[in-house]
Amino acid sequence: MQRFFQRLWKWYGNHARNLPWRDTSNPYQIWVSEVILQQTRVAQGIDYYHNFIFTFPDIASLAHAPEEKILKIWQGLGYYSRARNMQAAARLMMDKYGGNFPVRYSEIAELPGVGPYTAAAIASFAFGLPYPAVDGNVKRVVARLFALHEPVQSAAFMQQALALLQELMPGKRAADFNQAMIELGATLCSPRNPACDQCPVAEMCEAHRTGTTDRFPVTRPKKAAVKRYHDYLFLESKGETWLQKRPEMGIWAGLYEFPVHILEYDAGLSPLEIFGNWFYNPGEAVVADRTEFTHLLTHQTIFARFWHLCSDRTNIVEQKNCTRIAMEEIETLPVHRLMHKYLEKKDWRDSTEKQ
Ligand code: ADE
Repeated sequence: MQRFFQRLWKWYGNHARNLPWRDTSNPYQIWVSEVILQQTRVAQGIDYYHNFIFTFPDIASLAHAPEEKILKIWQGLGYYSRARNMQAAARLMMDKYGGNFPVRYSEIAELPGVGPYTAAAIASFAFGLPYPAVDGNVKRVVARLFALHEPVQSAAFMQQALALLQELMPGKRAADFNQAMIELGATLCSPRNPACDQCPVAEMCEAHRTGTTDRFPVTRPKKAAVKRYHDYLFLESKGETWLQKRPEMGIWAGLYEFPVHILEYDAGLSPLEIFGNWFYNPGEAVVADRTEFTHLLTHQTIFARFWHLCSDRTNIVEQKNCTRIAMEEIETLPVHRLMHKYLEKKDWRDSTEKQ
C-alpha cells in the first residue's frame, strides 16, 4: 500500500492539471466548481466557474440574486434545477449557518441539490475530511483497479467502490487522494484506450494485470431514447416576437422558448397546420426560413424545427404563459439549450436590422 501512495503522490505532484478550484479551500468556490463540473467538461467549466464566482462571489450574493440572473450565468450548462437548488442552498446557509458553509459531512449532504459525491468532494477538498468522492471518473478507475464485476450503474457497485476507497483513504491527505483519483480517471484511465503505460498504479491494477481494461467498467445495456418532434415558432411582427415560459416542473423548468408544438411522431405537417391555431390570420405570414437541429438528451432525441415567420399584420392568439416582447429582449431572458443553439446559429439580430 505504501508503494501505491508513493507512486500516486509523485505522479499527482508532477502531472496534475492546474485548475482554479484546486488552488482554494473555500467551500463555496469548491461547491460551485463541482456543480458546474457535473454539467460540463473541465475546459468549458473553467469559464463558467470564473464567471459565476465573479458575479456571485459568496453565499450571500447568490442567496440575494434574482433567479433570472443566475439562470443567465448558467445558460448553456443545462439542467437548470441545479442552479435553482444552489440558490435554495445559499438561502438555507444564510438562515441556518449565518451565511457560512456547514463543516460536517452530514450537514453538507443535506443542502438542496448536494448528493453524496458533491458532499464528499466539498468535505474533503475544503475541510480535509476522509470521504471518498466517487464520480464517473473515479468509478472507472476503481472498477479497473479492483476488476469489479457489478454493473457500474448499480447500487451494489457503488457500495463496493465506497468500501474499497474508504479502506484505501489515507487519513491525512483526503483532498489529494480524491483529486488524484479524479485526475487518473480524467487524464489516463479513459473509457477507451487507457494510457496504462503512463499510469503510476498500473502494476497494482487488476484489470491491467489480466489484460482486461476494455471489459471494465461493466455496463448495463441502455434503454432506447424516445423520439420527439418539436416545431418552434419564431414569429416576428413589428419588431416584436413571442416567448413562453416553461412550467416550473420537468425539463428546462422555468426557462423561455418560442411557442412550440410537440409531437411524438413525425406527421410531416406544414407550418400553417402546426401553427394555424395560434394565429388570427395565418395565411399572411411568410416563412422566412426553417432551421433544423437534432438535440440529444439522456432519454430522448429531439428533432427540432425552428420556423421563422414574418408578417407585420400577423398577430398571435394569446396563450397562457406566452408573452409578447421586443426582439432585443430575447437576449435578456434565460432560454434553454436548444433555443440557445438556434439563436446563436441564426444570429437573429441580422434579420431585424434588415427590416
Ligand atoms: N471533475 C469533477 N470534479 C473535479 C475536480 N475537482 N477536478 C477536475 N475534474 C473534476
